[in-house]
Amino acid sequence: MAMMRRKLVAGNWKMNGLQKDRDFLSALVDAHPDAPAADVLLCPPATLLSAMASAKPDWLMLGGQDCAQTQSGAHTGDISAAMLADLGCSHVIVGHSERRSDHGEGDALVRAKAEAALEAGLVPIICVGETLQQRESGEAEAVVVSQLRASTPECDAGAVVIAYEPVWAIGTGRTASPEDAQAMHAALRTAWPGADSDLLRILYGGSMNPGNAEALLSQSDVDGGLIGGASLKPDQFASIIRTLR
Ligand code: PGA
Repeated sequence: MAMMRRKLVAGNWKMNGLQKDRDFLSALVDAHPDAPAADVLLCPPATLLSAMASAKPDWLMLGGQDCAQTQSGAHTGDISAAMLADLGCSHVIVGHSERRSDHGEGDALVRAKAEAALEAGLVPIICVGETLQQRESGEAEAVVVSQLRASTPECDAGAVVIAYEPVWAIGTGRTASPEDAQAMHAALRTAWPGADSDLLRILYGGSMNPGNAEALLSQSDVDGGLIGGASLKPDQFASIIRTLR
């Protein structure tokens, strides 16, 4: 029997956001005076987490965009999962394709970061996704399934979130078609090693916006979205959340 998975709408601000952008929260609350029907998470830059933690509505969860693979120590510039948890975060993105390419992060490191997140009591959002070249050569599913296997710690399906983000769709205005997204999400669920794959939440990410969100989010194995550009605009983010009413 299929389990009901609650949808998760997650905003990833990437390296955007200054003190003045805390206004975003009041605009979001104006758009959603009551708790939305889905779980909602915002991952602003680490510099804004503390201020947002004290100003956010109860229904909004906060997350980091990355964490170190250890909880403390001599690692200048790194932020640990324990530090994010200490600020009130519930989630942390790990293995985003921009970190994989900008910082050379591979599956083993991503897995270590996901383990550190679990150890600190956070839910890691583990990102996987193929490049355009890999899609065009027919390797997309094999690449993404292998990333899933190598980047995910051994744990219950409910302890993590997976984000399928085709690299060619991130920030480009191109999205996977709802059918292609559904097919990949179903393949990822099938590849989940445990018997509890019904509990695994798999988000789609890559140019999701108010115009395409409904078609993507209505697919049976698409359990939410990881939203970059459109999460910077409160009206657009609110409108995506509203598609789940
Ligand atoms: P985008 O980014 O929505 O701007 O394409 C998504 C992501 O990279 O998480």
